[in-house]
Amino acid sequence: MRLESKVALITGAASGIGEATAELFAAEGASVVVSDINEDAARDVVQRIQDAGGEATLIAGSVADRAAVERIVGGTVERYGRIDILVNSAGVTRRHAPENADFDEQWEFVMGVNMKGTMLMCRFASDEMKKTGGGAIVNLASVYGLVGRPASLGDGFDPYTQSKGGVVQLTREMGVTMAKDGIRTNCLCPGFVHTNLTTGLTGDPETLAKLEALHPMGRLGESHEIAKAALFLASDDASFITGAVLSVDGGYAAQ
Ligand SMILES: NC(=O)c1ccc[n+]([C@@H]2O[C@H](COP(=O)([O-])OP(=O)(O)OC[C@H]3O[C@@H](n4cnc5c(N)ncnc54)[C@H](O)[C@@H]3O)[C@@H](O)[C@H]2O)c1
Repeated sequence: MRLESKVALITGAASGIGEATAELFAAEGASVVVSDINEDAARDVVQRIQDAGGEATLIAGSVADRAAVERIVGGTVERYGRIDILVNSAGVTRRHAPENADFDEQWEFVMGVNMKGTMLMCRFASDEMKKTGGGAIVNLASVYGLVGRPASLGDGFDPYTQSKGGVVQLTREMGVTMAKDGIRTNCLCPGFVHTNLTTGLTGDPETLAKLEALHPMGRLGESHEIAKAALFLASDDASFITGAVLSVDGGYAAQ
């Protein structure tokens, strides 16, 4: 077991990549805090982990809300005594913005969850990690934090790509500044992955074929393939890796 006796706090853990990561980390021996804004779905994940013999606790809340972030981090320490691993998987696109939101409101919504939410979680969790000699942070960025979208998919002003570029840079900055505190901060840049985030696109066979063609491997990824990369970066196997940006994208960003 690669995460025996570790405490892992995972946001966005009710669905997709976060959910797969929570289940994998629990199977690898970690005590997992399943955190998400969707409390019901998060409760189901906790139940499944417990049914499989793992250790998990639900702490719901929005990463975009500073008071909630302090409560999630504080609750994790209260429950398990410390935080060894943070995985920031909570994320949204413009489609998740409140109905009738105008461009500015959509922009602030996406940046608020993807960029500010990741920063807030990193900030408060790293304060706790410093108290216990360090830890490992894995941020979910995206291939679109590295390359521009094709014109067929974007209009040049999508806050999603801007927010993910910000997550890449937050990761590098923390990697540099917090190495002295024993905190390793790395990020994953997935290509398109089959999750609830992408069903709006992948449900249409023609769009799915176009997305598949963007990846040299000719297919989209699966959540468990991203979770395994998160496991590597979170585990001691990555003990000399910090500030790294790892593409897990079937070759997309290599083109
Ligand atoms: N699926 C992809 O193709 C893909 C590709 C690259 C990067 N990513 C990134 O990976 C991460 C996970 O994506 P996914 O595909 O698993 O998406 P998903 O929609 O399946 O899961 C995201 C989870 O985040 C939660 N969430 C949304 N807003 C939140 C908030 N304010 N506070 C707490 N939780 C919140 C949702 O309830 C959901 O459970 C995201 O950051 C996403 O941008 C996904």
